Amino acid sequence: MNHKIKKYTQLLISLPCLISCSVPTETTRQTPMMGWSSWNSYRVNISDEIIRAAADSLITKGLADLGYRHVNIDDGWFGGVNGDGRNADRTVRVNRERFPNGMRAVADYIHSRGLKAGLYSDAGSNTCGSIYDNDMAGVGVGMWQHDDVDAKTFFVDWNFDHIKIDFCGGGETGKSDYERYTSIRGAIDGTGRKDVTMNICRWEFPGTWAMHTGNSWRVATDIYPNWKDVVKQFQRNLYLSAYAGPGHFNDMDMLEIGNPESQLSRQQEYSHFALWCFMKSPLMIGGKLTTLNAEQLAIYSNKALIEINQDQLGEQPHVIWRTENQYILVADLQQSGGLKRTVCFFNDSDEPYDFTLNLNTVCLGGEVIVHNACSNKEEGVFNGIFGASLAPYEAVVYTLEGERRLQQIRYEAENGFLNNYKPDQSPDRAVAMYASAADVSAKGHVVQLGGSPDNWLQFNDVRVDESGDYTLKVAYKSPEKRNMNIVVNEEQYACTDLITPTHEGKILTLNVSLQKGSNTIRISNSEQFAPDIDYIEII
Ligand code: GLA
Repeated sequence: MNHKIKKYTQLLISLPCLISCSVPTETTRQTPMMGWSSWNSYRVNISDEIIRAAADSLITKGLADLGYRHVNIDDGWFGGVNGDGRNADRTVRVNRERFPNGMRAVADYIHSRGLKAGLYSDAGSNTCGSIYDNDMAGVGVGMWQHDDVDAKTFFVDWNFDHIKIDFCGGGETGKSDYERYTSIRGAIDGTGRKDVTMNICRWEFPGTWAMHTGNSWRVATDIYPNWKDVVKQFQRNLYLSAYAGPGHFNDMDMLEIGNPESQLSRQQEYSHFALWCFMKSPLMIGGKLTTLNAEQLAIYSNKALIEINQDQLGEQPHVIWRTENQYILVADLQQSGGLKRTVCFFNDSDEPYDFTLNLNTVCLGGEVIVHNACSNKEEGVFNGIFGASLAPYEAVVYTLEGERRLQQIRYEAENGFLNNYKPDQSPDRAVAMYASAADVSAKGHVVQLGGSPDNWLQFNDVRVDESGDYTLKVAYKSPEKRNMNIVVNEEQYACTDLITPTHEGKILTLNVSLQKGSNTIRISNSEQFAPDIDYIEII
């Protein structure tokens, strides 16, 4: 379905839903990491004192009680000399000026305050600080060729609980990011510690291997404390919901509220925090804790937003509607297919904007209670339509609780799981990716599908209320005759000679049988390109 950019009312008739009952529960899972990191406000200029003061501030300002329990020491703690980062026994050198008591002492202090300790290293030989901050003590200190000895030092001898691993020296190792991070993960596991978490700092979605290797991974290059950079992180995370889940999340980088260099307006600070919470990003405060003002502390302390971020279901929201500058996204809360959902309206323009949402579009029927998580106020009870007027650059996150859960009909391809997805693609390794286009549903579709057995798209959680026969519609475009293989759970359908020579898409219709609850639908072509996929519908 096409949506035009209009000032008012977009979602009045889109995506109808059928009535259904709710589906059973998920169990307790891991949630996004919360805490403070030194990088944004201090860069490499850190010290034992600064880290201890940050740990103290998390407690005295009440942030630890809200869940901010990680104190992460970023780049700047290394003590390489003239390119030599290692002692005679291969252990890494520490910067004794900045950390005179050594790293174990600072980790012990963090632990003594009931908090978790995080550290930074690099998958290659040299840190990013050695390149961009001219910190020569970061040369020759990275993990490359020392994975085992560093894992033992960091997690056994020093007792850290978390590590962020950069890739600045990674390119020079001759190994892929997959190989380096997998090796490091193996070395960490080899220490016998089962509780160590790892952040993959590769400055883009690294590939689906990251889901099994890291607990979070950066989706973009570094955030800077201005609005353009905040929005860049959000945009880079828009179509990555299929890869996030309990214990593994897309990381939109550290929060900039309270960074002394910040150019964000107060409204933009509110929106920044709301978007990070809503998108299930780790919540790492990058501001200076000692100088946070009362309003900034209140932004970080919004319990209703933190609760959404820390929801046990761990479902990252997906886009249901957008223009160039306005977005609506939705996710389940607490239970897949249940009665509680969270919705965000985001107006990234310099004009106010009136959003209107047909509640059927988010599959909630009957009377729907809408709670505003940003202001912590009830909006009221709505039947059919809910709308709100947003200020320039405002993001508002709501929790919705309906009387009935309606069966979802349309699943956008750009919210699906791409098995080989990699955002930066070399011309000789084109893999399926999300692309935006004005004339496709929700302004996004999947292109470059097929051509090898593993370059497929999968809809992982297609839910129906009753087992039985359904009509599956697949909206596609195909400039020449192409084929695709559709696998519905175990059942295969070969669809051949599909062609759409004009810009108009076409709909392929199949009769399929689905089971009650969750189903998977995979689209592939092992030899050649499959058509571009816009969406599927289940009726
Ligand atoms: C890279 C990372 C940042 C920070 C610096 C440290 O730029 O992306 O988050 O860790 O390195 O040098």
